[in-house]
Amino acid sequence: MGAAVAKALGFGTSETSWADGLDAVGKPPYELVLPPPDEATELLRRLGVPETDAAEVVATLPSRSGLPEWWWLLERSCHWLTKVMGDPDESHFTWPSWVGTEQACSLQRRCFMAHVFLAMVPHTMAWHRSRGLAEDISWASMADLGRHMVIHRRTYGATGVDAAWWVTVCLRAEVFDLGRLQFNWFHLGAGDTSPWWYPLEEARHRGPGFRPGDFCVGVHIPESGPMTPAACDDSFERAKGFFSEHFPLVGQRRRLATCWSWLLDDQLADWLPPESNIVRFQRRFELVPGSIESDGNILEFVFRVPDPLEHLDALPQRTRLERAVVAHLRAGGHWRTRSGWVDL
Ligand SMILES: CC(C)(COP(=O)(O)OP(=O)(O)OC[C@H]1O[C@@H](n2cnc3c(N)ncnc32)[C@H](O)[C@@H]1OP(=O)(O)O)[C@@H](O)C(=O)NCCC(=O)NCCS
Repeated sequence: MGAAVAKALGFGTSETSWADGLDAVGKPPYELVLPPPDEATELLRRLGVPETDAAEVVATLPSRSGLPEWWWLLERSCHWLTKVMGDPDESHFTWPSWVGTEQACSLQRRCFMAHVFLAMVPHTMAWHRSRGLAEDISWASMADLGRHMVIHRRTYGATGVDAAWWVTVCLRAEVFDLGRLQFNWFHLGAGDTSPWWYPLEEARHRGPGFRPGDFCVGVHIPESGPMTPAACDDSFERAKGFFSEHFPLVGQRRRLATCWSWLLDDQLADWLPPESNIVRFQRRFELVPGSIESDGNILEFVFRVPDPLEHLDALPQRTRLERAVVAHLRAGGHWRTRSGWVDL
């Protein structure tokens, strides 16, 4: 059936193998429900989705009889998400990357992740409730959909969902909004949200908190204005209480918060003033030795334009960071993604 759906929708090779994988997941043992258009519009508003984008998401809502192939994909995608809910060790990178404009990718494809989101909200929030999460934290955490639709529009000028894989981290109840920062949970060395880390022997030698399989918290910086030290202090304080209450440690004496980001590239300190928020954020963390060269990553987060490396001359040069990113590349340098940790 997966192959038939893929054929009917004109899927390419990687989309077809994704549909084949969903075939193996099967139909959910529950009735999948999408809210009717007026409720969907209200829910999207609550999830921070701008009106223009929400209208297109609602206009493309699939139904069992209206768009049976898309309904088939939706049912199985949601079944998979509910199966792996609360299990961060399972892969997050199994989704097609449906981004761009109409020429690159149809509206139906670009809205699919938002349809999944609408169908999943009750399931994810039920999991939050089972862990005793406050309703305001639950809603704030779900509003990541709006943020990623705003980013998609800014990048491509069209409705869509940026970083679908990350949105699934949210739908799988692994990430929580606690003020300025977001925090997700995982087991060190397991799954694909675990950061670049110490070699095995050293991790073991460092003891509880550092060992493979230990419970760990990831720190994320959503795009929502400057990250002042005071706002970050507040988020870290909230995270301490939050994880102790909702994810108590069993047989582990120490808990770390880790960050794996372009923001921890220590070369940034050569370009930004010591009082900049980024440099002050870096100072919180002890860096793990080693790095991954990733010019594309910093360019994506700073400029939000398609293929920035190919258009270095046209990138805006308004802020110190924008100028630094381009000047460093022009001087033959490369930017890196690095990992760091701090006790939580
Ligand atoms: C992380 C972030 C909040 C930091 O912003 P900030 O708090 O303003 O950081 P700083 O105070 O260190 O900024 C220093 C300079 O860089 C500029 N700057 C910071 N982030 C910028 C960005 N994403 N794009 C353009 N310029 C940026 C600031 O405007 C400032 O410039 P100025 O001195 O000319 O006024 C911001 O970069 C951002 O929103 N990034 C997107 C999300 C992200 O990258 N998350 C991490 C994913 S792994």
